[in-house]
This record gives sequence, structure tokens and C-alpha cells, in this order.
Amino acid sequence: MRKFAKSFATVAAISALALTSCGREDPGTGTEGGGEAAAGFEEGAAIGVALPQKTSENWVLAEKLFNEGLTEAGYEPSVQFANGGVSEQQNQISSMITNGVEVLVVGAIDGAQLGTQLQQAADAGITVIAYDRLLTNTENVEYYVAYDNFQVGELQGQALLDGMAERGEGPYNIELFAGSPDDANAQVFFDGAMSILQPKIDDGTLNVVSGQTEFNQAVTQGWEAGNAQTRMDTLLTGNYTSEELDGVLSPNDTLARAILTSVKASGKELPVVTGQDSEIESVKSIMADEQYSTINKDTRNLVAQAITMVEGLASGEEPEINDTESYDNGVKVVPAYLLEPQIVTKENAADAYADDPTLSELTK
Ligand code: BGC
Repeated sequence: MRKFAKSFATVAAISALALTSCGREDPGTGTEGGGEAAAGFEEGAAIGVALPQKTSENWVLAEKLFNEGLTEAGYEPSVQFANGGVSEQQNQISSMITNGVEVLVVGAIDGAQLGTQLQQAADAGITVIAYDRLLTNTENVEYYVAYDNFQVGELQGQALLDGMAERGEGPYNIELFAGSPDDANAQVFFDGAMSILQPKIDDGTLNVVSGQTEFNQAVTQGWEAGNAQTRMDTLLTGNYTSEELDGVLSPNDTLARAILTSVKASGKELPVVTGQDSEIESVKSIMADEQYSTINKDTRNLVAQAITMVEGLASGEEPEINDTESYDNGVKVVPAYLLEPQIVTKENAADAYADDPTLSELTK
């Protein structure tokens, strides 16, 4: 059993993450209880799905899959993006509550900024499921469904080491990028990666030439490609005029491609760059020997699992969960169903995407 800690506390506008010790179980197939099951509801019930901004392809796909899947299961979905930011998402959730949804599925922009709306939901007897991103600092979230975020980070850290080892012996020069600090996942991805990389920094195998090894130094506001590209430009100018850059930890594919764009413009040899999401352009880049790795978190399975939870609630049962220890949101440990992410490089891409009609075409 791996041991690590995750708990969430918000300081000012930025989520600062306080670590406390807690164990975790590997995802299994258990059906332990944990949340409060709704009393059940009828077919045709309204289900609200609040999604964040379209910061990566997985969210766009989720919209389509929730609409199709919930409709097919006999519900009336209301699926909304909040491209305008946190206040737009707050308003959307309030409207969903007023419109009488039975369940709220929330992919938060900032999981710490929905306390008022989630209290409204609790007062109205609505069950709240955190989708992909944890809702923090609230007791009003019953379940969490996500790919195991810490494991995503571990896989990214290991891929960075493996990719550089394939090219030659260390020590290696690297730089570290993290996601948006308002997304609770960003710190967890980073912690997972650092659990692999920190020992190698400590023993001198890895050299972070800029010295920027803290989460707060590595973050990319809003998960925006432009912000990552600008930071990479600055890192290159400030630290790599006479040094080689061997690897970059990137938390997702959108940022990986921005980092590669920056390095290309500098004329330097491309470093090993990690990613996440199996975005079409990144799978192409991997097959073209540019980006080194991505993570396969099949959105079809994640949405299907969320809908299975809704169906469990509809029949008045406890939805299936497989983790009751890992996701402490600062107020309580949220019962979770965690799916297992998969690392993808050029080597296993054909296998990994065999049952994905779009991505499998790209690996031929
Ligand atoms: C998701 C990632 C995604 C990122 C940016 C995270 O919360 O887990 O899959 O790359 O948001 O959209």
C-alpha cells in the first residue's frame, strides 16, 4: 500500500495545500459506503452537470458524453460550461438548483469557491458528485469520481526519467511545470510527480537549473498554454544559453505542446516532455517523436462511472466507491471511485488506443 498525504485548505484566492498524513488503499472493486444516499428519484429526473472552461479536450468530450449518456439512461441533463470563470459557474449551479435537479455533477474551475452553492444544494436535498476535480473546504459533497490524480503524477515523473534514460546517461537538466493553482488536481499531480523526482534531485541525478522546484513557482494560471510558453521562454533565456535542457515535467498535453513550441523557437534540441489527456495533437506529436509521453484517462469511462453513480442514487442505493481514504478536502475525506490512469509513449500507443476509433487511427 502506498502512503501519501493529500488534504486541502484555501488561503486567500490561491489554494495553498496543507499536508496531513493519511494512508490510502489501491483502487479495488469494493462497495464500501460513505456518503449519504438520496432517497431515490424517478426516471426523467433533471441532472445538472457543471463543467469548467474548455482548457483541454477531455472537457469538451465530457459535455457530449454526459448529454448522450444521461439522456439514454432516461434523465434530463443540463450540461453547462463556465467559460466566463468562477462567478459564471456559481450562477449556473444556483440555477440548476432552482430548476430542481436531483443530482449535481461538478467539474469545478476552483473547487474552493462553490461553498455557498453547495450549501444551497445540501439544503435542497441534492446529492453532489465532484467530477474529475475535488470540491474542497465543504462538507456538502457526497462523492468523488476521478482518475487517480496522484498516480497520474507518479506516471509522469517516471516517464520523464525513462525518456531521458533512453537518450543517455545523467545527470540531467530539467524544469518543472504544474497546472493551475485553483484546480485542486494541480497540486496532487505535482506531488505525485515529485514523489518520484525529488529523490533524484536530492541524489544529484536531476538538476533543476532554474532552481524553481516549488509548486508555487511551477504553476500555470488557468492551465493556459500562453502562460506556460512565456514561462518556458523566460527559463530558456535565463538559464539555458550555455546549458542543455534534457527534460520538462509538463502536467498536461496542452502545456506540453506550448513548452515544445517555446523550445523549438529557441533552436535548442527538444527535451523529453511529459503530458496528460491523450489529446489528438499530442498523440500526433508523440508518434512524430516530439512529445515523449501522455496519460490515457479515457473520458468515456469516467463519464460512464459518474452516470453509474447517478443511477445508483436514483434507485436509492449507495453508489459503488473504491476509496475512502485518499481525498481529504479539508473538511472530510470524500468517498471516491478512482479509475486507473495509463502512461502512453510511442511504444505502447497502438495498444493503449486500440479501442479508441479516433486515436487508434493516429498510431498506424
Ligand atoms: C484534469 C486534466 C486537464 C486539466 C486542464 C485537470 O483537472 O484532470 O485532465 O488536463 O484539468 O483542463
